[in-house]
Amino acid sequence: MRVWTIANQKGGVGKTTTVAALGGLFAAAGERTLLVDLDPHASLSHYFRLDEEQPGLYHLFTECGQIAQLAQPTQYPNLSVLAANPALATLDRQFGTRNGMGRVLQKGLQAAAVEFDRVLLDCPPLLGLLMVNALAASERVLIPTQTEFLALRGLERMLQTLAMIQRSSGRDPDYHVIPTLYDARTHASRSAMQQLRERHGEQVTRNEIPVDTQLREASRAGVPAAQWQPSRRGAASYQLLFDELCAAEAMAELVS
Ligand SMILES: Nc1ncnc2c1ncn2[C@@H]1O[C@H](COP(=O)(O)OP(=O)(O)OP(=O)(O)O)[C@@H](O)[C@H]1O
Ligand SMILES: [Mg+2]
Repeated sequence: MRVWTIANQKGGVGKTTTVAALGGLFAAAGERTLLVDLDPHASLSHYFRLDEEQPGLYHLFTECGQIAQLAQPTQYPNLSVLAANPALATLDRQFGTRNGMGRVLQKGLQAAAVEFDRVLLDCPPLLGLLMVNALAASERVLIPTQTEFLALRGLERMLQTLAMIQRSSGRDPDYHVIPTLYDARTHASRSAMQQLRERHGEQVTRNEIPVDTQLREASRAGVPAAQWQPSRRGAASYQLLFDELCAAEAMAELVS
């Protein structure tokens, strides 16, 4: 089982859209895929029309639930979602820094390792117990970053968080920065992209995700991007990104 986290403390940069798009592609490629919604706002769960009142991620933390039982199938073959519950918002207050709470998700996933080939974790845009759990459980972190000035500052903050978690957990996940919402017609977007590539070089994926209103439509229709309109720019970019990330993973495994 391979676990990737999709995280950025900045909101609205395309995390959930990326999880849905890549999840759809992994499932279509035949991998038994689990998407985990760690955001109390439950955007990913809404994307797939799941009921957030059903037992979900919250019950993994509070009732020692089993991921294999809590995950809900979607209408797409090979694609399941562990839904968020609004009560997730209270986890930090309930458990704070209690010992062991940072590894609940990792242990839960290990127990479900025979059920799934691929797990994508959709983080909320803030640092707390849920993001700590995701980073501790994953071997690869994807950081969608909107190509605009303020989002670049958000990326620096996210990289500091990643370094801090790495220091305390001893894990050293690979990470990729994914430029999103790129609009080649605007100077601001082009200049942010240039800065991103200058500062973060190899960590930035070659394939960026352009602004494409069809991605918004896909989310409204509850369909992963590639299954919605594969020929459209946004969906096609996610296919290229998927190929690039799979190649990078295969290369990393070859040398490890
Ligand atoms: N490439 C894109 N082109 C156009 N719209 C997009 C694109 N990516 C995402 N969106 C839209 O932007 C909004 C925010 O995207 P999304 O929910 O994926 O971001 P997020 O980082 O998960 O946000 P949050 O931090 O609130 O969880 C959504 O309405 C989504 O449909
Ligand atoms: Mg989101």
